[in-house]
Amino acid sequence: MPSLASSPEVLLVEDKDSLRRMLRLALEGGAYHVVEARDLNEARDALARHRPLLVLTDLRLPVGDGFGVLRAAKEADPDLPVVVMTAFGGVEEAVRAMREGALDFLAKPVDPEHLLLMVGRAIEQRRLATENLLLREELAARRGLPHIIGEHESLRRALTSVQRAAAGDATVLIEGESGTGKELVARAVHALSPRAAGPFVAINCAAIPETLLETELFGYEKGAFTGAAARKAGKFEVAHRGTLFLDEIGDLPLTLQAKILRAIEEKRFERVGSNVPLQVDVRLVAATNKNLRAAVAARRFREDLYFRLSVLPVQMPSLRERASDIPLLAQHFVERFSRELKKRVSLSPAAVEALSAYPWPGNVRELQNSLERAVILAEGDTIQPAHLQLSAPPTAVDAGGAPPPADPWRSTGEDPSPRSRAARWWRWSAGNSRARWPSAAATACAPPRHCRCRCGSCSRRSASTGWNSPDRRT
Ligand SMILES: Nc1ncnc2c1ncn2[C@@H]1O[C@H](COP(=O)(O)OP(=O)(O)OP(=O)(O)O)[C@@H](O)[C@H]1O
Ligand SMILES: [Mg+2]
Repeated sequence: MPSLASSPEVLLVEDKDSLRRMLRLALEGGAYHVVEARDLNEARDALARHRPLLVLTDLRLPVGDGFGVLRAAKEADPDLPVVVMTAFGGVEEAVRAMREGALDFLAKPVDPEHLLLMVGRAIEQRRLATENLLLREELAARRGLPHIIGEHESLRRALTSVQRAAAGDATVLIEGESGTGKELVARAVHALSPRAAGPFVAINCAAIPETLLETELFGYEKGAFTGAAARKAGKFEVAHRGTLFLDEIGDLPLTLQAKILRAIEEKRFERVGSNVPLQVDVRLVAATNKNLRAAVAARRFREDLYFRLSVLPVQMPSLRERASDIPLLAQHFVERFSRELKKRVSLSPAAVEALSAYPWPGNVRELQNSLERAVILAEGDTIQPAHLQLSAPPTAVDAGGAPPPADPWRSTGEDPSPRSRAARWWRWSAGNSRARWPSAAATACAPPRHCRCRCGSCSRRSASTGWNSPDRRT
């Protein structure tokens, strides 16, 4: 079975046994591993099974020719260097080969020293180009990797699990609501792991139609289906020696779950349209905002795959569970967007209070979006609650369930802070999965003498919004 881990390999395509033997010995003398082929068909087969770093081919072959080998090599990997061997005086052929993408040519009879020099140079060039690309990607990833902000115990616990997970190679399953930072954490697992220099490849299983997902994950061979004009590597292959992030794994169709399980367990898979197994060295990180255990119970998710994925589980807390982190996160986003938008703005205490009271169903992403908007909208140098435009409170009536319990402070005249009002609503909504924010019609505002929502209706002692932040206009 081919192993993507074995290198450096040179594919040598030459039909004459004596010359092939001589070239092989010369290359082996230079510490290269040689894969031999005698014609175009054998070369194609070798390209499917191996990952050579260079192809050295004769132009005249009994089946096909060197130009065919050149094309097959470029189809397999557009960056694969190809050196052609031309007959004495075959300048025109050499020029044509170079025009079609060959890196260089060697005139026969081939001088072994010249051969080793050229092969060494070509492989070094390619190594440097790959290294360069990886360094650039790593740099971009580091630059793009924002800090994971938060001091709440629940986040610290999650980050400790991340650090422990990163050191090893086991599969990590990140669970949490949308916008809690699952992708951020997946990138951190990769960046902190020994694979940090390798690629981080992400695929969103929910965003790709079922019919395309298999080819995206495992790649395909030329001609595997109508429109497959050239071989394409899948994400598993591209993530070789790095990390593959399977986002929204809960949406993975059952048919693909078995294939993924095999790829994880055996570390091998076949491209669509091929029965040649490829071996890869990939670390898997998966994320979901679904309850996978419930999906297993409902037979929508394979139990064996669930156990395979959840070797190292990481639970991302919702933002309302760690509301004490809101001011810290808000400060971070305001500084970031001020810098990006070249403005000098800061948060007013009232804005911080409103942010802390809001339940953030969209978690950190929603907070981030709200603050970006606020920095744009702020006219002076201070962000006021009105600039936050927190989304309108949804309704309990919409939820179809019982409305929230009566406001305890209505009878006592106690003034609830926005935070305690939100907390109370969330306590109630925890048992009402279809609950929405109380609507104006369904819930009375705080007692009029305490109501600062400026809705006007409170002063007339009529129903108002349940959202009672001091600066929120209703
Ligand atoms: N603790 C944090 N500190 C700073 N930024 C954060 C934090 N958590 C999340 N973010 C930011 O919030 C946004 C959403 O995070 P991310 O995409 O990782 O969430 P997610 O859980 O993958 O969401 P979804 O389930 O919707 O895909 C990103 O821009 C991310 O940088
Ligand atoms: Mg995500």
